[in-house]
Amino acid sequence: MLNRVNRVVVIGAGFVGSSYAFALLNQGITEELVLIDLNKEKAQGDAMDLNHGLPFAPSHTKIWYGDYSECGEADIVVITAGSNQKPGETRLDLVEKNTKIFKGIVEEIMASGFNGIFLVATNPVDILTYAVWKFSGFPKERVIGSGTILDTARFRFLLGDYFNIDTRNVHAYIIGEHGDTELPVWSNADIAGTAISKWAESKDGFRQEELDQIFLNVRDAAYHIIEKKGATYYGIAMGLVRLTKAILQNENSVLTVSAYLDGEYGQKDLYIGVPAVVNRDGVRDIVELELSEEEQQKFIHSVDVLKKTMNSAFP
Ligand code: LAC
Repeated sequence: MLNRVNRVVVIGAGFVGSSYAFALLNQGITEELVLIDLNKEKAQGDAMDLNHGLPFAPSHTKIWYGDYSECGEADIVVITAGSNQKPGETRLDLVEKNTKIFKGIVEEIMASGFNGIFLVATNPVDILTYAVWKFSGFPKERVIGSGTILDTARFRFLLGDYFNIDTRNVHAYIIGEHGDTELPVWSNADIAGTAISKWAESKDGFRQEELDQIFLNVRDAAYHIIEKKGATYYGIAMGLVRLTKAILQNENSVLTVSAYLDGEYGQKDLYIGVPAVVNRDGVRDIVELELSEEEQQKFIHSVDVLKKTMNSAFP
């Protein structure tokens, strides 16, 4: 008996949604991919364009423009729809308009009988992931935000580049808000099992401010990219594909996603970027890193900023 095919539905065929669809197709991760967007022409055009690339794809993916009823059979629904940051705008500035948009989207998805896993990418992602959890009534582990998955990837890339080491051998996390209050966990960052501090000591002409600058470049990357090209989409799309793969292939991979805290890190009742074990059931466990005193303070500040914004979004 053939396994039931897996299906991913992406809501929003804008820059992020269509880049995600393109990356998913080229990595051969899913068997069915449904695109939904208010702009039907755009989503239909994307579906046609992607289908024409199928002969070059590593495996067959059935792609079509659909409607919300098709979420009922989906394993994963990815929400990328909503307004994105304009130059000079912070992610938190988007909370009001995107929360309203999300209420309608989640209602439509729930009406389909969807019973899979939500992946949320729209900003402010921590708050909107909380909104999807609230609006859907789903178990907390089956609502996941992209969180700091991209920030951690940026951190690993820049550290790998700085020390001239393959980024896949760099293990360093960004946690907290996917935004201005995120923080680097230097205290347990390593390359090939050796503390970053050791690598720094042996680097000719090393200066601490170079590492400090690396974090600032991570934190502010989106602002710089938006200034140059108007939006960010390739990095986040690839992060979402990584998350999709961990779920569909039941990987139990540790990824820094926006996950619900219910006492972990001493915090409750919010979604925020932390390392979590991800598999076909969503978030299996949250990994509680040993944080330094300074890192704990910064994390608490990030929690406070998110909670303050949440209180205004969900009075
Ligand atoms: C960024 C968007 C995804 O950080 O918030 O590029």
